[in-house]
Amino acid sequence: MKTGATRLTAVATAAQPDIHARLEGVTRIYPPRAGHGEVHALGPISLDLRAGEFFSVVGPSGCGKSTLLDVLSGLAVPSAGTVEFEGKPVRGEVPDGVGVVFQEDASFPWLTVEDNVSFGLRRSGVDGTETKRRVDFAIGFMGLRDFRRAYPSQLSGGMRQRVCIARTLVLQPRLILLDEPFGALDQQTRLLMGDELLRLWRETSATVLLITHALDEANLLSDRIGVMSARPGRFIEIVETGWPRERDSRLAERPDFGAVTARLWSYLRAESMQALGQGSMAR
Ligand SMILES: Nc1ncnc2c1ncn2[C@@H]1O[C@H](COP(=O)(O)OP(=O)(O)OP(=O)(O)O)[C@@H](O)[C@H]1O
Ligand SMILES: [Mg+2]
Repeated sequence: MKTGATRLTAVATAAQPDIHARLEGVTRIYPPRAGHGEVHALGPISLDLRAGEFFSVVGPSGCGKSTLLDVLSGLAVPSAGTVEFEGKPVRGEVPDGVGVVFQEDASFPWLTVEDNVSFGLRRSGVDGTETKRRVDFAIGFMGLRDFRRAYPSQLSGGMRQRVCIARTLVLQPRLILLDEPFGALDQQTRLLMGDELLRLWRETSATVLLITHALDEANLLSDRIGVMSARPGRFIEIVETGWPRERDSRLAERPDFGAVTARLWSYLRAESMQALGQGSMAR
C-alpha cells in the first residue's frame, strides 16, 4: 500500500494540487431499447474529487448512482462531458490505479475465495510471493480466513460481497470506487466493516468514493457527501461533515452527529418521493 500512497503524493503535488479525479458536465443517456424510449440517467453533473478524501454519494433509487460510478471508472462512456483521473482523460477502460467494487456480486463462481482474490494480481504479473502476501492480508482483513478454499456458492451474500472487496483491495488502488458494498450485511457487521474501511483509507491515503443508501453510514464515513436528485441525477447539495480523520463508529455518539444525518434526509426526502412517483406528497 505504501507504493500507491507515494505515487499519489507525487501526482497531487504536480500541476493540480488537490484534484484526484474530475467529472465535468457529464451526462449519460441510455439509447432506446425493446419498446422503451431513451433513458436520461445522469447529469449534467460535475465533481472534483480531492486527493485522499472520503466522498460518499447518496440519492434515491434509480437516480443514476451506479451510472455515475460506471462513468467515473471508465467502464461506461459519457454521452457528454469529460472524466479525468490523475490529470488524464478516462474513456472506455478502467485506468491503472482505480479499483471498483460493484453493486451486484461479481465473484467468479468457479474459483475459490483465494483464487477469486488473487485473480487480478495474477493477470497483472505480480510475482508469487507478493501475490501471496497481499492475498493473505486482504482475506484476513475481510474476515474470510476460514473460507479461503470455499467456493462462492458456499458463502452468504455478505461474504461474497467481502470477497469482491478483497479482490479490489489486493490491487492497491489509489482511487477506490464502491457501489453499496455493505448492502448485503447486517447492521453490526456493516458498522465494523465501515471502521475497517476507514482504517484502510487512513493507512493507504487512497481516495474513496462510496455509494450508499444508508445516510448514517455516509455521515460516519465521509469527509463530504454528495446528495443526488431524482433521475436524471445531479448533485443538489454537497455536505462537508468536518469530522476528524481519526474516526470510527463511536462518532455516532456525538451530539452533533444526528444533525448531519437529519440534514441529509431533509435534502433527500422530496427527491426520494419524486423517484417513487409521489411528487405531490413531498410538498
Ligand atoms: N444498461 C441500461 N440500459 C438502460 N437503462 C439503464 C441501464 N442501466 C441503468 N439504466 C437506467 O438508468 C437509471 C439509473 O440507473 P442506476 O442503476 O444508475 O441507478 P441507481 O441510482 O444506482 O439505483 P439503485 O439505488 O437502485 O442502485 C434507471 O432509470 C435505470 O433504469
Ligand atoms: Mg445502483
